[in-house]
Amino acid sequence: MTPTKHSQLVILPDLETLSRVAADHFVAAASAAVATRGAFAVALSGGSTPRRLYTLLASPSWKDQVAWACTHVFWGDERCVPPDHPESNYRLARELLLDHVPLPAANVHRPRAELDDRESAAAEYEAEITQSVPPNSDGKPRFDLMLLGVGSDGHTASLLPGSTLLREGARLVVVSDLKREGTTRLTVTPCVLNNAARLAFLVAGEDKAPALREVLEGEDDVEHYPAQIVRKAQGEVFWLVDREAASLLSTSARV
Ligand code: 6PG
Repeated sequence: MTPTKHSQLVILPDLETLSRVAADHFVAAASAAVATRGAFAVALSGGSTPRRLYTLLASPSWKDQVAWACTHVFWGDERCVPPDHPESNYRLARELLLDHVPLPAANVHRPRAELDDRESAAAEYEAEITQSVPPNSDGKPRFDLMLLGVGSDGHTASLLPGSTLLREGARLVVVSDLKREGTTRLTVTPCVLNNAARLAFLVAGEDKAPALREVLEGEDDVEHYPAQIVRKAQGEVFWLVDREAASLLSTSARV
């Protein structure tokens, strides 16, 4: 049913419940990483779905459960806009979460996607990830947790349908070859996603239902449904999905 043996599908009644479960996942991943290696490297996502999660993590119930001093925050993708732009993923996280928790400024690892030289910005961010996120035995960075979303077209991060980046094997961060909603983006590549210890997808709303069915239950077709790329994930993959987004999944998945 779900794509890999390390994959778990959790269907929640609504976005509020989904966000609370996601906040618990965030705390669990942070606690496990800090207990094991004394630090927690997390990549945040953009989009609208994680807004409530970020607000919850900044609230009294969750804020004190995370060792922020040991937490390092990154982004899986970023729009090529200034950091104060309304569409900036960094700005979204800063306003809802980062400004409200005791996270040291040095632990915020933001892609400088606003630079005119985007290739340099991508290379700089790749170097930052390589320096700050411990590698696995292949030498590739292993995030403790990556938060992700799925678009109604099946994309994840800024890996878009038809993108040549779905076959990128060497680089960790690239400039998107296709624009979305008129914007170029920096994005991590499939190997970064598939090397993470834990991926958590947050998917809500009925407009996601057709794509989610193809991503989770369709034939292999990563060109059209890039989120299928995580079928090759080495770590755990959690699909936190609301009832509307799950509405086209097979009956057994919806129990
Ligand atoms: C972004 C993303 C993107 C997002 C999906 C889902 O910056 O927009 O990282 O991959 O997660 O498009 O977005 P929604 O949560 O808005 O549906």
